[in-house]
Amino acid sequence: MKLLVTGCCGFIGTNFVKLVLRQHPTWHVTNLDKLTYAGNRSSLLSEETDPVHYRFVQGDICDAKLVEELVAGVEAVVHFAAESHNDNSLKDPSPFLHTNLIGTYTLLEAVRKHNVRYHHISTDEVYGDLELDDPDKFHETTPYNPSSPYSSTKAGSDMLVRAWVRSFGVKATISNCSNNYGPYQHIEKFIPRQITNLICGVRPKLYGKGENVRDWIHVEDHNLAVLEILAKGKIGETYLIGADGEKNNKEVVELLLTLMGHDAKDYDHVSDRPGHDMRYAIDSTKLRTELGWKPIYTNFRDGLQATVDWYKANESWWRPAKEATEKKYAQLGR
Ligand code: NAD
Ligand code: TYD
Repeated sequence: MKLLVTGCCGFIGTNFVKLVLRQHPTWHVTNLDKLTYAGNRSSLLSEETDPVHYRFVQGDICDAKLVEELVAGVEAVVHFAAESHNDNSLKDPSPFLHTNLIGTYTLLEAVRKHNVRYHHISTDEVYGDLELDDPDKFHETTPYNPSSPYSSTKAGSDMLVRAWVRSFGVKATISNCSNNYGPYQHIEKFIPRQITNLICGVRPKLYGKGENVRDWIHVEDHNLAVLEILAKGKIGETYLIGADGEKNNKEVVELLLTLMGHDAKDYDHVSDRPGHDMRYAIDSTKLRTELGWKPIYTNFRDGLQATVDWYKANESWWRPAKEATEKKYAQLGR
């Protein structure tokens, strides 16, 4: 199997490449990544020592000529590359429109031309948010209702995929996953920001009251689901990926403080994110019943402890980005 995978110098893609090369040692993976502030080539540096099975290409998914050349040589494309952080999208939406919309369009045109299988990685944030006391969760049929420039551009990209399936017969599937945690996540995101704050002697920062709920899934469980969809997913279908991991932000910060040897109340409240989605929750029955996937990392405490240990052991990976990341937050007052 020859795969083109986009955005693998980022969090989920890095973990995906490592998983694929471990599980399928005969596959060939090409990683197309622009190396934005969120991309870190060093995450896959040891994989670069095996050029037969892993190749890194630095480039933009909006570069139609480059994308077409790469797509022509593979059997499938898995598209992870995106601008992925809500707070950044509120400050400057323009790269989100470029990468998430034009980038997806560019890939779709290339897979259409070369009749290549395409899997589109998306988020549950396209569905908007739920009330805290809503008994319902997101389903594959939940109407789209995105709140931020990030989620609206991801929603737009999903719509492009659906249209290219229907109008041009592109062989595509879509997955919408909940919040991931695990190793190699950029320290702008909630969990690694608080872990690295604590390592630096800084108190964790909770937006608003900290009551917002996210449905946490370990990145490995997300990627195992993607491989199932690639192997067995029905063309044209959408699959929701989630591991029944609902927790509010306060609970997560308190658990982190405890795991790292601090008093559970040693955090600060900071100003809230404008338009902050209250709750995400996934019903992944379709994926579980139709494709037989189920999560492996079902103990959040253990998964979080392993993530803390990873950031403690890999300070050289995140330390160079810490100052610039916190400078961005300081400008936002958060
Ligand atoms: P990330 O921000 O960690 O990584 C994004 C990667 O894409 C980076 O390596 C970056 O350099 C690259 N990139 C950005 N623009 C590019 C461009 N124009 N051309 C080529 N490469 C470009 O993101 P992530 O958290 O790994 O998310 C990956 C995908 O998963 C995204 O599509 C995101 O919407 C989706 N997703 C993420 C989560 C989550 O919790 N992180 C949950 C559900 C879905
Ligand atoms: P984030 O990791 O940005 O993911 P998303 O916005 O895609 O859910 O944030 C997760 C939750 O944590 C979200 O409710 C915002 C909140 N949050 C904080 O309370 N403090 C922080 O420092 C950050 C970065 C996020």
